[in-house]
Amino acid sequence: MRTDDDSWDITESVGATALGVAAIRAYESGQDDALFQDPYAAKLVSAVGSDGWNNLMSGMRNLGAGEQGGDDTDLRGWSMGSVLIARTVYFDEYFAAAVRAGIRQIVILAAGLDARAYRLEWPSGTRIFELDQPKVLAFKARALADDEPGADRREVAVDLRQDWPKALLDKGFEPGEPTAWLAEGLLRYLPGHAQDKLLEQVAELSAPGSRIALNLGTDKDMADQFRERRAKVMADAGVKIDLENLFYP
Ligand SMILES: C[S@@+](CC[C@H](N)C(=O)[O-])C[C@H]1O[C@@H](n2cnc3c(N)ncnc32)[C@H](O)[C@@H]1O
Repeated sequence: MRTDDDSWDITESVGATALGVAAIRAYESGQDDALFQDPYAAKLVSAVGSDGWNNLMSGMRNLGAGEQGGDDTDLRGWSMGSVLIARTVYFDEYFAAAVRAGIRQIVILAAGLDARAYRLEWPSGTRIFELDQPKVLAFKARALADDEPGADRREVAVDLRQDWPKALLDKGFEPGEPTAWLAEGLLRYLPGHAQDKLLEQVAELSAPGSRIALNLGTDKDMADQFRERRAKVMADAGVKIDLENLFYP
């Protein structure tokens, strides 16, 4: 059950959704013809030390995750898995285009276990602000303590339903410079009024030349299909997460 000021650690509530996405990125990275390489995803998921999340990451080949429910299918054959894999590629390309256009200020809203600051190529002088709840960022900092980001990475521990712009400015965000914003896998975890407010705040902080990329929920038919499969995949892996009660309509 969500409340307006709930908070979480990486294995709890909305925090665990970041683990789910990272598990799928770890899985994809292990494929022979992987569409991207995210070596940090496996490191982050392993750091939790949970059998369920390790099962999910190491492959659903025998978990009956395919659209047909067969047991010889894999995560890519699962609609939600393929969406998460495709969106990783899409947003990687979004950032590549933003830096080609000369943008050097990046804000990742609800960064979760996104390791783009570490795994993508960034021109010198790029600043990357990662916003998420304090315990989520603390977990990531511990797990990646030995790794060096490829840009000036700054953590901003906030609640995105509150006054996060002040915290962002305090960390050195330059409102006069164009920004590439990302809200990947975020909006459905915010109530409608908080979604509106967040986008207003982003607009206020966006100098000319700024851009944003984000994803929205799915239509009802696809959502129903996702829900059924998701419950089965999670149960088969042994992951306990009550996703349906984390989303807002
Ligand atoms: C599905 S995960 C996506 C993480 C990352 N963007 C990715 O795609 O890998 C959702 C993330 O949103 C964060 N989040 C959701 N609501 C938030 C809020 N009100 N304040 C801060 N972070 C929030 C969660 O902590 C979690 O890391």
